[in-house]
Amino acid sequence: MEDLLSLIKTRQSSRGLFDTNRSISKEDLNKILEAGGWAPTAHNMQNFEIVVVDDPKILEAIGNVKITRPKSAIEENNNYVSASEEELQSRKSGILNSMPSAITEHGKDPLYEYLRKSITATSVLLIVMYDPRKRAPGSEGDFLGKISLGCVMENMWLMAHSLGIGLQIVSAVGYSDDYEKQIKGILGIPEYFERAYSCRLGYPVSTKGNYLRVRRDLEDYTHYNHFGNNNESKKV
Ligand SMILES: Cc1cc2nc3c(=O)[nH]c(=O)nc-3n(C[C@H](O)[C@H](O)[C@H](O)COP(=O)(O)O)c2cc1C
Repeated sequence: MEDLLSLIKTRQSSRGLFDTNRSISKEDLNKILEAGGWAPTAHNMQNFEIVVVDDPKILEAIGNVKITRPKSAIEENNNYVSASEEELQSRKSGILNSMPSAITEHGKDPLYEYLRKSITATSVLLIVMYDPRKRAPGSEGDFLGKISLGCVMENMWLMAHSLGIGLQIVSAVGYSDDYEKQIKGILGIPEYFERAYSCRLGYPVSTKGNYLRVRRDLEDYTHYNHFGNNNESKKV
């Protein structure tokens, strides 16, 4: 069990470049996909499809899709970005300023270039699609069904990590109607699906990409028997 906790704690977002000369074997890719398939989903609806993109031409086409994000989204994002390790250390949440944060105009800003490069220069991009037709029974807004897709994500992420393969979720591309339409068009995905997330997989070129990772303390988010009682349970 300690090994599992250590695997969980050492899994991290691979935000650096991947080695494009080193591809992921079919065997390892299948292990990652199988781990995703064995994720718990509400009512076992298995409400997802995963599109594996490993054709450089298609990766190029996806990387070149225009990204636009509302100013409000950029501002909100910036509120949770720490400028230094010290700041992140004391906040214990949010992320370090390790990605360019401003998106302005297609082809001109650093975040667009960063995202384009990270998508085009990857071995494999997985596009995880949510299938709203497989709604979890009785769940308003399919809240339970959507949570389930996070379980798929974590299973795949841990499996990849255990194989020494890096993974990065790429949600910074945003979710505009136009972007989704183009992605579906490139990949031939039927209209009724919704993209839950994309993630890139590969072997990091350098471990220098490792960065400070922080979490809130256990006592901060755990409440014993009564909300606000963060001390240990008095139960004997
Ligand atoms: C739903 C979701 C969306 C995310 N989107 C991005 C993203 O667009 N880019 C990125 O680099 N990381 C993304 N992440 C990764 C988180 O930022 C990351 O897990 C968190 O900062 C903790 O860092 P760690 O993964 O290294 O532990 C996302 C994670 C989740 C669960």
